[in-house]
Amino acid sequence: MVVDPSSPLTQLTQLIQTSIPSTHHLHLLAAATTTLILVATLFFTYRPIKHVYLIDYSCYRPPDSLRAPLSTYIEHISISGAFDGPSIEFQKKLVERSGIGNTTCFPDGLHQLPDDNSSKSALLEVETIMCTTLKDLLTKHQIDPTTINILITNCGVVCSTPSIAAMIINRFGLKSDVRSFHLAGMGCSASLRAISLARDLLRVNKNSLAVVLSMEAVTSNCYHGKEKSMLVSNCLFRMGGVATLLSNRKQDKSIARYMLQHLVCTHTGSKDTSYSCIVQEVDNEGLVGVRISKDIAQVAGDAVRTNIRSLGPLVLPYMQLMRYRWSVIRSKFWGTIYVPTFRMAFDHFCIHAGGKAVIDAVGHVLGLVDEDLEASKMTLYRFGNTSVSTIWYSLCYMEAKGRVKKGDSVWQISLGSGFKCNSAVWKCMSDLGPRVDNAWSDRIHLYPVEVPKVVDN
Ligand SMILES: *[C@@H]1O[C@H](CO)[C@@H](O)[C@H](O)[C@H]1NC(C)=O
Ligand SMILES: *[C@@H]1O[C@H](CO)[C@@H](O)[C@H](O)[C@H]1NC(C)=O
Ligand SMILES: *[C@@H]1O[C@H](CO)[C@@H](O)[C@H](O)[C@H]1NC(C)=O
Repeated sequence: MVVDPSSPLTQLTQLIQTSIPSTHHLHLLAAATTTLILVATLFFTYRPIKHVYLIDYSCYRPPDSLRAPLSTYIEHISISGAFDGPSIEFQKKLVERSGIGNTTCFPDGLHQLPDDNSSKSALLEVETIMCTTLKDLLTKHQIDPTTINILITNCGVVCSTPSIAAMIINRFGLKSDVRSFHLAGMGCSASLRAISLARDLLRVNKNSLAVVLSMEAVTSNCYHGKEKSMLVSNCLFRMGGVATLLSNRKQDKSIARYMLQHLVCTHTGSKDTSYSCIVQEVDNEGLVGVRISKDIAQVAGDAVRTNIRSLGPLVLPYMQLMRYRWSVIRSKFWGTIYVPTFRMAFDHFCIHAGGKAVIDAVGHVLGLVDEDLEASKMTLYRFGNTSVSTIWYSLCYMEAKGRVKKGDSVWQISLGSGFKCNSAVWKCMSDLGPRVDNAWSDRIHLYPVEVPKVVDN
């Protein structure tokens, strides 16, 4: 019988033959299954570590003996002999309008007459703040220093040899294979930069504990000249710092206070105006100081907008996002950009408390109300501009007030020289009620206060 190859019968036979697995096919199937199991095993063994937990953090509370009420500050600069009449007058006016209260602190060296701004005195300030906060944190959580795997310290202006990170390794007896880094010169937003480095390291090192110590030393940052643009930071800058404890260990999930949800760092330094907005330099008389340019409001605004352009898509509800995207397209022709109401995406805000103008400007750009700015303004009032750590003092404030509840999201936004704008979004993982053991808890009942307004006469 001659079978026509195109007949329906042949086609059916062929179909049946190909669908029944031959031995060859069985081998293939076994190989595929084995590969799948292998890939799955590899995936679960080496899968990227996603969660980074913030077990806890500790902000430095200087002893009352270091307090410098405004009257003391003015008296100090008047009799120190370092400033001429107009410079004293300028600082007096500025400090009275700054939003800073009577409880901020200076390190010991700056209480001396004349100021002891030696590097020894600056290092003492660094050591006091970093060691006190770290010790507090380790004691509170009964953590053995030798279990720390990653150590990152950051301090903008003090850069010693051996490094500050080495000093911590020495004082706490950390183990010899600890991964340690010191970041210098990174400005007021360095804390979140350091956290982002810690996060990246935690992503590739399983089962690890990371410590990040962030502060700025006031001692070596005091400018003694006449230039107004360099005197500004004298008036606002005060003592403070923070230690944070991060982890990706499974057992820490149940004790962690927060989980890191997003971290977005932006740098607008490719523009000259941004780059030279805050610089440490030498004036005409050879005196070192930090110069703040008049463009700061504009530069900061730009940096914040750049940052939220990246952060927005990660956190905004869909409708808001569409509206925002559309406004970005429209702005090419009409220039105005719709700013999404970030109020709806977050429960709490910690804005870098560099100065009253900074908080108000950022609040304005983001469409926040007075209530959202309370923690940052009170931080400025009680502790002053503590540079890198202000966003942590604000978080302390809200925790001491008992406002942060399980499931809440917190947005920290910091700004600093470079020019940088960094933001972090944390999700609260535990419900602990008002905190009684942080930098604010001793006097939280006295806040918020009305910041007195100064009227010119
Ligand atoms: C600081 O204290 C002085 C004297 O008690 C007071 O007049 C002034 O208003 C206070 N300043 C601030 C900002 O609270
Ligand atoms: C310390 O202050 C003096 C003026 O009192 C100044 O000449 C010197 O440059 C300062 N040193 C540092 C390291 O800032
Ligand atoms: C806050 O203090 C830091 C540290 O000196 C300084 O660089 C920064 O310019 C200050 N911020 C403002 C707004 O003065």
